[in-house]
Amino acid sequence: MSEPSADTTTATAGSATGVRRLSVDELRTLFLFEGLTDDQLQWIAERGEVRTYDGDVAVYSEADPADYLFILLSGGLRMSRSVQGEDLTVVETQYRGAYSGAMRAFVDAADDTFTYANSLATTEPSSFLVLSSAHFAELMRTWFPMAVHLLDGLYLGIRNSESVVRQREHLARLGTLSAGLAHELNNPAAAAVRATGQLRDQVARARHKLKLLAYGKIDAELIAGLVELQETTMLEMADRPALSPVEVSDLEDGLIDRLDESGISGADDLAAVLASAGLGARWVDRVADAVSPDTLDGSLRFLANTFETEALMDEITEATTRISNLVGAVKQYAYMDSSATQEIDVHVGLDSTVVILGHKLGAIEVRREYDRSLPKIPAFAAELNQVWTNLIDNAADAMGGHGVLTLRTSREDDWLVVEVADDGPGIPADVLPRIFDAFFTTKDVGAGTGLGLENAKRIVCKRHRGEIEPVSSPEGTTFRVKLPLAQQLR
Ligand SMILES: Nc1ncnc2c1ncn2[C@@H]1O[C@H](COP(=O)(O)OP(=O)(O)OP(=O)(O)O)[C@@H](O)[C@H]1O
Ligand SMILES: [Mg+2]
Repeated sequence: MSEPSADTTTATAGSATGVRRLSVDELRTLFLFEGLTDDQLQWIAERGEVRTYDGDVAVYSEADPADYLFILLSGGLRMSRSVQGEDLTVVETQYRGAYSGAMRAFVDAADDTFTYANSLATTEPSSFLVLSSAHFAELMRTWFPMAVHLLDGLYLGIRNSESVVRQREHLARLGTLSAGLAHELNNPAAAAVRATGQLRDQVARARHKLKLLAYGKIDAELIAGLVELQETTMLEMADRPALSPVEVSDLEDGLIDRLDESGISGADDLAAVLASAGLGARWVDRVADAVSPDTLDGSLRFLANTFETEALMDEITEATTRISNLVGAVKQYAYMDSSATQEIDVHVGLDSTVVILGHKLGAIEVRREYDRSLPKIPAFAAELNQVWTNLIDNAADAMGGHGVLTLRTSREDDWLVVEVADDGPGIPADVLPRIFDAFFTTKDVGAGTGLGLENAKRIVCKRHRGEIEPVSSPEGTTFRVKLPLAQQLR
Protein backbone atom coordinates (compact mmCIF):
# COMPACT_ATOMS: atom_id res chain seq x y z
CA MET A 1 0.00 0.00 0.00
CA SER A 2 1.47 3.35 -0.95
CA GLU A 3 1.54 6.36 1.33
CA PRO A 4 -0.59 9.45 0.67
CA SER A 5 1.18 11.52 -1.93
CA ALA A 6 1.69 15.19 -1.35
CA ASP A 7 0.27 16.31 -4.72
CA THR A 8 -3.11 14.64 -4.37
CA THR A 9 -4.72 17.16 -2.11
CA THR A 10 -8.43 17.12 -1.46
CA ALA A 11 -10.01 19.89 -3.40
CA THR A 12 -13.56 18.64 -3.45
CA ALA A 13 -16.33 19.35 -1.02
CA GLY A 14 -16.52 17.42 2.24
CA SER A 15 -14.29 17.10 5.20
CA ALA A 16 -11.58 14.91 3.83
CA THR A 17 -9.07 14.01 6.46
CA GLY A 18 -6.44 12.21 4.39
CA VAL A 19 -5.52 10.70 1.00
CA ARG A 20 -3.68 7.60 -0.15
CA ARG A 21 -3.36 5.18 -3.10
CA LEU A 22 -4.66 1.59 -3.32
CA SER A 23 -2.49 -1.36 -4.28
CA VAL A 24 -3.20 -3.55 -7.32
CA ASP A 25 -4.28 -6.36 -4.98
CA GLU A 26 -6.69 -4.08 -3.16
CA LEU A 27 -8.14 -2.85 -6.44
CA ARG A 28 -8.72 -6.43 -7.53
CA THR A 29 -11.18 -6.90 -4.64
CA LEU A 30 -13.54 -4.29 -6.10
CA PHE A 31 -16.20 -5.81 -8.39
CA LEU A 32 -16.05 -2.84 -10.73
CA PHE A 33 -12.51 -3.78 -11.75
CA GLU A 34 -13.20 -7.46 -12.26
CA GLY A 35 -11.33 -8.97 -15.21
CA LEU A 36 -8.79 -6.16 -15.57
CA THR A 37 -5.18 -7.10 -16.24
CA ASP A 38 -2.41 -6.31 -13.78
CA ASP A 39 -1.23 -3.53 -16.09
CA GLN A 40 -4.64 -1.99 -16.17
CA LEU A 41 -5.02 -2.23 -12.41
CA GLN A 42 -1.60 -0.66 -12.06
CA TRP A 43 -2.71 2.21 -14.29
CA ILE A 44 -5.70 2.82 -12.02
CA ALA A 45 -3.62 2.37 -8.86
CA GLU A 46 -1.36 5.19 -10.00
CA ARG A 47 -4.24 7.55 -10.68
CA GLY A 48 -6.95 6.72 -8.16
CA GLU A 49 -6.68 8.23 -4.72
CA VAL A 50 -8.33 7.30 -1.44
CA ARG A 51 -10.27 9.97 0.36
CA THR A 52 -11.84 9.64 3.78
CA TYR A 53 -14.81 11.57 5.06
CA ASP A 54 -16.54 12.05 8.39
CA GLY A 55 -20.07 10.70 8.81
CA ASP A 56 -23.02 12.70 7.51
CA VAL A 57 -21.13 15.11 5.27
CA ALA A 58 -21.76 16.15 1.66
CA VAL A 59 -19.25 14.66 -0.77
CA TYR A 60 -20.58 16.51 -3.80
CA SER A 61 -23.83 18.08 -4.80
CA GLU A 62 -26.01 17.80 -7.87
CA ALA A 63 -25.12 21.13 -9.43
CA ASP A 64 -21.31 20.65 -9.19
CA PRO A 65 -19.32 19.82 -12.34
CA ALA A 66 -19.01 16.04 -12.50
CA ASP A 67 -15.23 15.92 -12.00
CA TYR A 68 -14.80 12.61 -10.16
CA LEU A 69 -15.97 9.02 -9.92
CA PHE A 70 -16.36 7.80 -6.30
CA ILE A 71 -16.16 4.12 -5.33
CA LEU A 72 -17.12 3.21 -1.78
CA LEU A 73 -14.35 1.35 0.08
CA SER A 74 -15.77 1.48 3.61
CA GLY A 75 -18.59 3.16 5.50
CA GLY A 76 -21.91 4.12 3.93
CA LEU A 77 -23.29 6.52 1.35
CA ARG A 78 -26.51 8.19 0.45
CA MET A 79 -27.34 9.34 -3.10
CA SER A 80 -30.14 11.84 -3.42
CA ARG A 81 -31.83 14.01 -6.02
CA SER A 82 -33.51 17.31 -5.61
CA VAL A 83 -37.08 17.16 -6.90
CA GLN A 84 -39.09 20.38 -6.73
CA GLY A 85 -36.81 21.64 -3.97
CA GLU A 86 -37.13 18.46 -1.94
CA ASP A 87 -34.14 16.18 -1.32
CA LEU A 88 -35.19 12.63 -2.23
CA THR A 89 -32.96 9.68 -1.31
CA VAL A 90 -32.33 7.49 -4.33
CA VAL A 91 -29.93 4.96 -2.81
CA GLU A 92 -28.59 4.40 0.68
CA THR A 93 -26.00 1.63 0.95
CA GLN A 94 -22.93 0.28 2.70
CA TYR A 95 -22.12 -2.02 -0.19
CA ARG A 96 -18.37 -2.01 -0.81
CA GLY A 97 -17.74 -1.04 -4.41
CA ALA A 98 -20.92 1.02 -4.78
CA TYR A 99 -20.02 3.84 -7.13
CA SER A 100 -21.36 7.25 -7.93
CA GLY A 101 -20.26 10.31 -9.84
CA ALA A 102 -18.74 10.93 -13.24
CA MET A 103 -20.62 8.16 -14.97
CA ARG A 104 -21.26 10.24 -18.06
CA ALA A 105 -17.72 11.58 -18.40
CA PHE A 106 -16.71 9.04 -21.02
CA VAL A 107 -19.37 10.08 -23.51
CA ASP A 108 -17.82 13.27 -24.74
CA ALA A 109 -14.63 14.43 -23.10
CA ALA A 110 -14.88 17.73 -24.97
CA ASP A 111 -18.09 18.50 -23.13
CA ASP A 112 -17.00 19.66 -19.71
CA THR A 113 -20.42 21.01 -18.79
CA PHE A 114 -21.58 17.75 -17.21
CA THR A 115 -22.84 18.09 -13.70
CA TYR A 116 -23.48 15.25 -11.27
CA ALA A 117 -26.82 13.50 -11.78
CA ASN A 118 -27.30 13.26 -8.01
CA SER A 119 -25.86 14.46 -4.70
CA LEU A 120 -23.65 12.22 -2.61
CA ALA A 121 -23.25 12.25 1.16
CA THR A 122 -21.81 9.90 3.76
CA THR A 123 -24.04 8.26 6.37
CA GLU A 124 -21.06 7.33 8.59
CA PRO A 125 -17.28 7.85 8.50
CA SER A 126 -16.37 6.50 5.04
CA SER A 127 -13.60 6.13 2.50
CA PHE A 128 -13.77 6.23 -1.28
CA LEU A 129 -11.48 5.49 -4.16
CA VAL A 130 -11.65 8.63 -6.27
CA LEU A 131 -10.81 8.75 -9.96
CA SER A 132 -10.92 11.95 -11.99
CA SER A 133 -13.47 11.98 -14.82
CA ALA A 134 -10.71 12.64 -17.35
CA HIS A 135 -8.90 9.47 -16.26
CA PHE A 136 -12.13 7.52 -16.08
CA ALA A 137 -13.07 8.64 -19.59
CA GLU A 138 -9.65 7.66 -20.93
CA LEU A 139 -9.91 4.25 -19.26
CA MET A 140 -13.37 3.57 -20.68
CA ARG A 141 -12.64 4.67 -24.20
CA THR A 142 -9.33 2.85 -24.49
CA TRP A 143 -10.20 -0.40 -22.75
CA PHE A 144 -13.92 -0.77 -23.44
CA PRO A 145 -14.74 1.06 -26.68
CA MET A 146 -17.72 -1.14 -27.40
CA ALA A 147 -19.14 -0.67 -23.91
CA VAL A 148 -18.88 3.08 -24.39
CA HIS A 149 -20.98 2.86 -27.54
CA LEU A 150 -23.54 0.68 -25.81
CA LEU A 151 -23.76 2.97 -22.81
CA ASP A 152 -24.02 5.95 -25.10
CA GLY A 153 -27.01 4.38 -26.80
CA LEU A 154 -28.56 3.48 -23.48
CA TYR A 155 -28.12 6.97 -22.12
CA LEU A 156 -29.55 8.53 -25.25
CA GLY A 157 -32.46 6.09 -25.11
CA ILE A 158 -33.25 7.02 -21.53
CA ARG A 159 -33.00 10.72 -22.31
CA ASN A 160 -35.28 10.36 -25.33
CA SER A 161 -37.85 8.37 -23.46
CA GLU A 162 -37.84 10.89 -20.62
CA SER A 163 -38.38 13.65 -23.13
CA VAL A 164 -41.23 11.71 -24.78
CA VAL A 165 -42.86 11.19 -21.38
CA ARG A 166 -42.62 14.90 -20.56
CA GLN A 167 -43.94 15.87 -24.00
CA ARG A 168 -46.87 13.57 -23.37
CA GLU A 169 -47.45 15.22 -19.99
CA HIS A 170 -47.46 18.58 -21.73
CA LEU A 171 -49.98 17.32 -24.26
CA ALA A 172 -52.07 15.88 -21.46
CA ARG A 173 -52.19 19.33 -19.91
CA LEU A 174 -53.28 20.71 -23.24
CA GLY A 175 -55.88 17.95 -23.09
CA THR A 176 -57.43 19.83 -20.19
CA LEU A 177 -58.03 22.51 -22.80
CA SER A 178 -60.29 20.17 -24.67
CA ALA A 179 -62.05 19.37 -21.40
CA GLY A 180 -62.72 23.10 -21.04
CA LEU A 181 -63.88 23.23 -24.61
CA ALA A 182 -66.24 20.30 -24.04
CA HIS A 183 -67.73 22.31 -21.20
CA GLU A 184 -68.15 25.33 -23.49
CA LEU A 185 -69.91 23.13 -26.00
CA ASN A 186 -72.10 21.58 -23.39
CA ASN A 187 -73.75 24.83 -22.30
CA PRO A 188 -75.27 25.79 -25.68
CA ALA A 189 -76.02 22.14 -26.43
CA ALA A 190 -78.00 21.84 -23.19
CA ALA A 191 -79.77 25.15 -23.93
CA ALA A 192 -80.73 23.91 -27.40
CA VAL A 193 -82.08 20.67 -25.97
CA ARG A 194 -84.13 22.50 -23.34
CA ALA A 195 -85.54 25.00 -25.85
CA THR A 196 -86.41 22.19 -28.26
CA GLY A 197 -88.40 20.46 -25.50
CA GLN A 198 -90.36 23.65 -24.80
CA LEU A 199 -90.90 24.16 -28.49
CA ARG A 200 -92.43 20.71 -28.69
CA ASP A 201 -95.04 21.77 -26.07
CA GLN A 202 -95.74 24.98 -27.95
CA VAL A 203 -96.24 23.12 -31.21
CA ALA A 204 -98.60 20.69 -29.44
CA ARG A 205 -100.67 23.66 -28.27
CA ALA A 206 -100.67 25.10 -31.79
CA ARG A 207 -101.96 21.73 -33.08
CA HIS A 208 -104.79 21.94 -30.59
CA LYS A 209 -105.70 25.40 -31.89
CA LEU A 210 -105.66 24.05 -35.43
CA LYS A 211 -108.19 21.42 -34.38
CA LEU A 212 -110.48 24.09 -32.94
CA LEU A 213 -110.15 25.96 -36.20
CA ALA A 214 -111.01 22.85 -38.18
CA TYR A 215 -114.26 22.45 -36.22
CA GLY A 216 -115.09 26.06 -37.04
CA LYS A 217 -114.91 27.18 -33.42
CA ILE A 218 -112.58 30.02 -34.33
CA ASP A 219 -113.38 32.40 -37.10
CA ALA A 220 -110.94 31.96 -40.02
CA GLU A 221 -111.03 35.73 -40.65
CA LEU A 222 -109.98 36.32 -37.10
CA ILE A 223 -107.02 33.92 -37.48
CA ALA A 224 -105.93 35.61 -40.71
CA GLY A 225 -106.09 39.02 -38.99
CA LEU A 226 -104.11 37.77 -36.02
CA VAL A 227 -101.41 36.21 -38.18
CA GLU A 228 -101.04 39.53 -39.96
CA LEU A 229 -100.80 41.37 -36.64
CA GLN A 230 -98.27 38.82 -35.47
CA GLU A 231 -96.12 39.32 -38.55
CA THR A 232 -96.10 43.11 -38.36
CA THR A 233 -95.35 42.94 -34.65
CA MET A 234 -92.42 40.58 -35.30
CA LEU A 235 -91.02 42.96 -37.91
CA GLU A 236 -91.28 45.89 -35.51
CA MET A 237 -89.65 43.86 -32.73
CA ALA A 238 -86.69 42.89 -34.93
CA ASP A 239 -85.66 46.55 -35.26
CA ARG A 240 -86.07 47.37 -31.60
CA PRO A 241 -83.04 47.40 -29.25
CA ALA A 242 -83.06 44.86 -26.40
CA LEU A 243 -84.77 46.07 -23.23
CA SER A 244 -83.20 46.29 -19.80
CA PRO A 245 -84.74 44.21 -16.98
CA VAL A 246 -86.14 47.44 -15.48
CA GLU A 247 -87.83 48.37 -18.76
CA VAL A 248 -89.29 44.85 -19.07
CA SER A 249 -90.64 45.05 -15.55
CA ASP A 250 -92.22 48.48 -16.26
CA LEU A 251 -93.90 47.03 -19.36
CA GLU A 252 -95.17 44.11 -17.32
CA ASP A 253 -96.76 46.38 -14.70
CA GLY A 254 -98.52 48.40 -17.42
CA LEU A 255 -99.73 45.20 -19.09
CA ILE A 256 -101.19 43.75 -15.91
CA ASP A 257 -103.22 46.95 -15.38
CA ARG A 258 -104.35 46.99 -19.00
CA LEU A 259 -105.33 43.29 -19.00
CA ASP A 260 -107.22 43.70 -15.72
CA GLU A 261 -109.10 46.55 -17.28
CA SER A 262 -110.34 44.24 -20.06
CA GLY A 263 -111.35 41.64 -17.49
CA ILE A 264 -108.74 39.08 -18.58
CA SER A 265 -108.14 36.56 -15.81
CA GLY A 266 -104.77 35.13 -14.77
CA ALA A 267 -103.05 37.97 -16.59
CA ASP A 268 -99.65 37.58 -14.86
CA ASP A 269 -98.30 34.81 -17.11
CA LEU A 270 -99.54 36.49 -20.22
CA ALA A 271 -98.06 39.84 -19.14
CA ALA A 272 -94.69 38.20 -18.47
CA VAL A 273 -94.52 36.63 -21.95
CA LEU A 274 -95.63 39.81 -23.75
CA ALA A 275 -93.32 42.07 -21.73
CA SER A 276 -90.27 39.89 -22.41
CA ALA A 277 -91.15 40.12 -26.12
CA GLY A 278 -91.02 43.92 -25.68
CA LEU A 279 -94.76 44.47 -25.93
CA GLY A 280 -96.76 46.77 -23.63
CA ALA A 281 -100.24 48.11 -22.90
CA ARG A 282 -100.35 50.13 -26.15
CA TRP A 283 -99.88 46.98 -28.16
CA VAL A 284 -102.82 45.38 -26.33
CA ASP A 285 -104.86 48.41 -27.47
CA ARG A 286 -103.95 47.59 -31.06
CA VAL A 287 -105.08 43.99 -30.65
CA ALA A 288 -108.30 45.14 -28.97
CA ASP A 289 -109.02 47.36 -31.97
CA ALA A 290 -108.57 44.42 -34.35
CA VAL A 291 -110.72 41.81 -32.57
CA SER A 292 -114.05 41.66 -30.80
CA PRO A 293 -114.00 41.97 -26.96
CA ASP A 294 -115.03 38.33 -26.40
CA THR A 295 -112.11 37.03 -28.46
CA LEU A 296 -109.50 39.40 -26.99
CA ASP A 297 -108.37 36.93 -24.32
CA GLY A 298 -107.97 34.04 -26.79
CA SER A 299 -106.34 36.28 -29.38
CA LEU A 300 -103.77 37.61 -26.94
CA ARG A 301 -102.92 34.07 -25.80
CA PHE A 302 -102.60 32.92 -29.38
CA LEU A 303 -100.21 35.76 -30.15
CA ALA A 304 -98.24 35.23 -26.94
CA ASN A 305 -97.88 31.59 -27.92
CA THR A 306 -96.42 32.49 -31.31
CA PHE A 307 -93.99 34.98 -29.73
CA GLU A 308 -92.86 32.37 -27.29
CA THR A 309 -92.32 29.94 -30.16
CA GLU A 310 -90.35 32.56 -31.99
CA ALA A 311 -88.19 33.29 -28.91
CA LEU A 312 -87.49 29.59 -28.45
CA MET A 313 -86.46 29.27 -32.08
CA ASP A 314 -84.12 32.25 -31.64
CA GLU A 315 -82.62 30.56 -28.60
CA ILE A 316 -82.06 27.36 -30.55
CA THR A 317 -80.51 29.25 -33.46
CA GLU A 318 -78.20 31.10 -31.07
CA ALA A 319 -77.17 27.94 -29.24
CA THR A 320 -76.56 25.91 -32.38
CA THR A 321 -74.69 28.80 -33.98
CA ARG A 322 -72.43 28.95 -30.94
CA ILE A 323 -71.82 25.20 -31.19
CA SER A 324 -71.08 25.48 -34.85
CA ASN A 325 -68.69 28.42 -34.26
CA LEU A 326 -66.84 26.46 -31.59
CA VAL A 327 -66.53 23.44 -33.84
CA GLY A 328 -65.38 25.78 -36.62
CA ALA A 329 -62.73 27.23 -34.32
CA VAL A 330 -61.50 23.76 -33.42
CA LYS A 331 -61.20 22.85 -37.09
CA GLN A 332 -59.48 26.12 -37.78
CA TYR A 333 -57.17 25.66 -34.80
CA ALA A 334 -56.12 22.17 -35.78
CA TYR A 335 -56.10 23.07 -39.47
CA MET A 336 -57.93 19.80 -40.03
CA ASP A 337 -58.84 20.72 -43.56
CA SER A 338 -55.46 21.70 -44.88
CA SER A 339 -51.88 20.65 -45.52
CA ALA A 340 -49.00 21.21 -43.11
CA THR A 341 -47.55 24.37 -44.62
CA GLN A 342 -49.56 27.10 -46.23
CA GLU A 343 -50.05 30.83 -46.53
CA ILE A 344 -51.90 31.88 -43.41
CA ASP A 345 -53.51 34.91 -41.87
CA VAL A 346 -52.09 34.98 -38.34
CA HIS A 347 -55.25 36.63 -37.03
CA VAL A 348 -57.30 33.55 -37.84
CA GLY A 349 -54.96 31.39 -35.74
CA LEU A 350 -54.89 33.89 -32.86
CA ASP A 351 -58.68 34.13 -32.81
CA SER A 352 -59.30 30.40 -32.92
CA THR A 353 -56.75 29.94 -30.12
CA VAL A 354 -58.65 32.45 -27.98
CA VAL A 355 -61.85 30.48 -28.60
CA ILE A 356 -60.13 27.21 -27.71
CA LEU A 357 -58.71 28.73 -24.53
CA GLY A 358 -61.96 30.57 -23.76
CA HIS A 359 -62.72 28.44 -20.76
CA LYS A 360 -59.32 29.09 -19.20
CA LEU A 361 -59.44 32.84 -19.91
CA GLY A 362 -62.55 33.24 -17.77
CA ALA A 363 -62.93 36.88 -16.76
CA ILE A 364 -59.77 38.02 -18.58
CA GLU A 365 -60.51 40.74 -21.13
CA VAL A 366 -59.04 40.07 -24.57
CA ARG A 367 -58.01 43.18 -26.52
CA ARG A 368 -57.12 42.86 -30.17
CA GLU A 369 -54.88 45.43 -31.80
CA TYR A 370 -54.61 43.82 -35.20
CA ASP A 371 -53.12 45.32 -38.31
CA ARG A 372 -55.55 43.72 -40.73
CA SER A 373 -53.57 44.94 -43.72
CA LEU A 374 -50.76 42.47 -42.98
CA PRO A 375 -50.18 39.95 -45.76
CA LYS A 376 -50.52 36.21 -45.34
CA ILE A 377 -47.29 34.45 -44.43
CA PRO A 378 -45.98 30.96 -45.14
CA ALA A 379 -46.24 28.87 -41.98
CA PHE A 380 -46.84 25.52 -40.37
CA ALA A 381 -50.26 26.69 -39.30
CA ALA A 382 -51.16 24.12 -36.65
CA GLU A 383 -47.72 24.41 -35.06
CA LEU A 384 -47.94 28.17 -34.95
CA ASN A 385 -51.20 27.78 -33.07
CA GLN A 386 -49.26 25.79 -30.48
CA VAL A 387 -47.10 28.87 -30.01
CA TRP A 388 -50.10 31.14 -29.46
CA THR A 389 -51.60 28.51 -27.14
CA ASN A 390 -48.49 28.28 -24.97
CA LEU A 391 -48.06 32.06 -24.78
CA ILE A 392 -51.73 32.75 -24.02
CA ASP A 393 -51.80 29.84 -21.56
CA ASN A 394 -48.83 31.34 -19.69
CA ALA A 395 -50.36 34.82 -19.79
CA ALA A 396 -53.62 33.46 -18.33
CA ASP A 397 -51.67 31.69 -15.58
CA ALA A 398 -49.73 34.88 -14.81
CA MET A 399 -52.92 36.94 -14.54
CA GLY A 400 -54.71 34.39 -12.39
CA GLY A 401 -58.08 34.80 -14.10
CA HIS A 402 -58.29 38.63 -14.08
CA GLY A 403 -56.65 41.25 -16.23
CA VAL A 404 -56.17 42.30 -19.82
CA LEU A 405 -54.66 40.12 -22.50
CA THR A 406 -53.57 42.14 -25.51
CA LEU A 407 -52.95 40.50 -28.88
CA ARG A 408 -51.11 42.86 -31.21
CA THR A 409 -49.90 42.43 -34.78
CA SER A 410 -47.70 44.74 -36.79
CA ARG A 411 -45.05 44.87 -39.48
CA GLU A 412 -41.37 45.59 -38.93
CA ASP A 413 -39.26 45.63 -42.12
CA ASP A 414 -39.50 42.11 -43.55
CA TRP A 415 -41.02 40.71 -40.41
CA LEU A 416 -44.53 40.16 -39.19
CA VAL A 417 -44.65 40.79 -35.44
CA VAL A 418 -47.14 39.17 -33.08
CA GLU A 419 -47.20 40.31 -29.48
CA VAL A 420 -48.96 38.51 -26.65
CA ALA A 421 -49.08 40.85 -23.66
CA ASP A 422 -50.42 40.34 -20.16
CA ASP A 423 -50.66 42.68 -17.18
CA GLY A 424 -49.58 40.00 -14.72
CA PRO A 425 -46.74 40.33 -12.20
CA GLY A 426 -43.94 39.89 -14.76
CA ILE A 427 -41.07 37.40 -14.83
CA PRO A 428 -38.53 37.81 -11.99
CA ALA A 429 -34.97 38.65 -13.17
CA ASP A 430 -33.54 35.39 -11.82
CA VAL A 431 -36.20 33.35 -13.66
CA LEU A 432 -35.95 35.18 -17.00
CA PRO A 433 -32.73 33.56 -18.32
CA ARG A 434 -34.18 30.08 -17.84
CA ILE A 435 -37.73 30.33 -19.16
CA PHE A 436 -36.92 28.76 -22.53
CA ASP A 437 -35.13 25.78 -20.93
CA ALA A 438 -36.90 22.47 -21.31
CA PHE A 439 -38.59 21.37 -18.09
CA PHE A 440 -38.01 24.70 -16.37
CA THR A 441 -41.14 25.69 -14.51
CA THR A 442 -42.03 27.74 -11.45
CA LYS A 443 -45.47 26.17 -11.28
CA ASP A 444 -46.61 23.49 -8.86
CA VAL A 445 -46.24 19.81 -9.66
CA GLY A 446 -48.94 18.93 -12.17
CA ALA A 447 -49.59 22.58 -13.04
CA GLY A 448 -46.66 22.99 -15.41
CA THR A 449 -44.24 20.76 -17.26
CA GLY A 450 -41.90 23.57 -18.29
CA LEU A 451 -42.15 22.67 -21.96
CA GLY A 452 -44.46 25.42 -23.19
CA LEU A 453 -41.85 28.03 -24.02
CA GLU A 454 -39.26 25.52 -25.15
CA ASN A 455 -41.81 24.26 -27.67
CA ALA A 456 -42.75 27.79 -28.68
CA LYS A 457 -39.12 28.72 -29.24
CA ARG A 458 -38.44 25.61 -31.29
CA ILE A 459 -41.46 26.23 -33.51
CA VAL A 460 -40.70 29.92 -33.99
CA CYS A 461 -36.92 29.76 -34.40
CA LYS A 462 -36.24 26.35 -35.91
CA ARG A 463 -39.41 25.73 -37.91
CA HIS A 464 -40.13 29.29 -39.07
CA ARG A 465 -36.69 30.93 -38.79
CA GLY A 466 -38.28 33.58 -36.62
CA GLU A 467 -37.41 35.12 -33.28
CA ILE A 468 -39.11 35.14 -29.88
CA GLU A 469 -38.24 37.35 -26.94
CA PRO A 470 -39.88 38.33 -23.68
CA VAL A 471 -40.13 41.91 -22.46
CA SER A 472 -41.04 41.81 -18.80
CA SER A 473 -41.55 44.25 -15.96
CA PRO A 474 -43.59 44.18 -12.74
CA GLU A 475 -46.44 45.71 -14.81
CA GLY A 476 -46.63 42.71 -17.10
CA THR A 477 -45.01 40.55 -19.73
CA THR A 478 -45.03 40.80 -23.50
CA PHE A 479 -43.79 38.00 -25.71
CA ARG A 480 -42.74 39.32 -29.12
CA VAL A 481 -42.73 36.79 -31.93
CA LYS A 482 -41.18 37.84 -35.24
CA LEU A 483 -41.91 35.77 -38.33
CA PRO A 484 -40.39 36.30 -41.78
CA LEU A 485 -42.96 37.70 -44.23
CA ALA A 486 -41.63 35.58 -47.07
CA GLN A 487 -39.58 32.41 -47.11
CA GLN A 488 -39.41 28.86 -48.37
CA LEU A 489 -40.41 26.49 -45.56
CA ARG A 490 -39.26 22.91 -45.51
N1 LIG B 1 -46.44 35.60 -19.13
C1 LIG B 1 -45.70 35.17 -18.12
N2 LIG B 1 -45.69 35.84 -16.94
C2 LIG B 1 -44.92 35.43 -15.91
N3 LIG B 1 -44.13 34.32 -15.95
C3 LIG B 1 -44.10 33.61 -17.08
C4 LIG B 1 -44.88 33.99 -18.23
N4 LIG B 1 -44.63 33.10 -19.22
C5 LIG B 1 -43.76 32.20 -18.71
N5 LIG B 1 -43.44 32.50 -17.44
C6 LIG B 1 -42.49 31.75 -16.59
O1 LIG B 1 -41.75 30.87 -17.40
C7 LIG B 1 -41.85 29.54 -16.91
C8 LIG B 1 -41.75 28.58 -18.07
O2 LIG B 1 -42.89 28.67 -18.91
P1 LIG B 1 -43.30 27.43 -19.79
O3 LIG B 1 -44.51 27.78 -20.56
O4 LIG B 1 -42.11 26.95 -20.54
O5 LIG B 1 -43.63 26.31 -18.71
P2 LIG B 1 -44.88 26.24 -17.72
O6 LIG B 1 -45.92 27.20 -18.13
O7 LIG B 1 -44.34 26.34 -16.34
O8 LIG B 1 -45.39 24.75 -17.97
P3 LIG B 1 -46.11 24.20 -19.30
O9 LIG B 1 -45.17 23.18 -19.86
O10 LIG B 1 -47.32 23.59 -18.79
O11 LIG B 1 -46.31 25.35 -20.23
C9 LIG B 1 -43.16 29.50 -16.17
O12 LIG B 1 -43.18 28.48 -15.19
C10 LIG B 1 -43.21 30.89 -15.56
O13 LIG B 1 -42.41 30.96 -14.38
MG1 LIG C 1 -46.61 27.30 -20.11
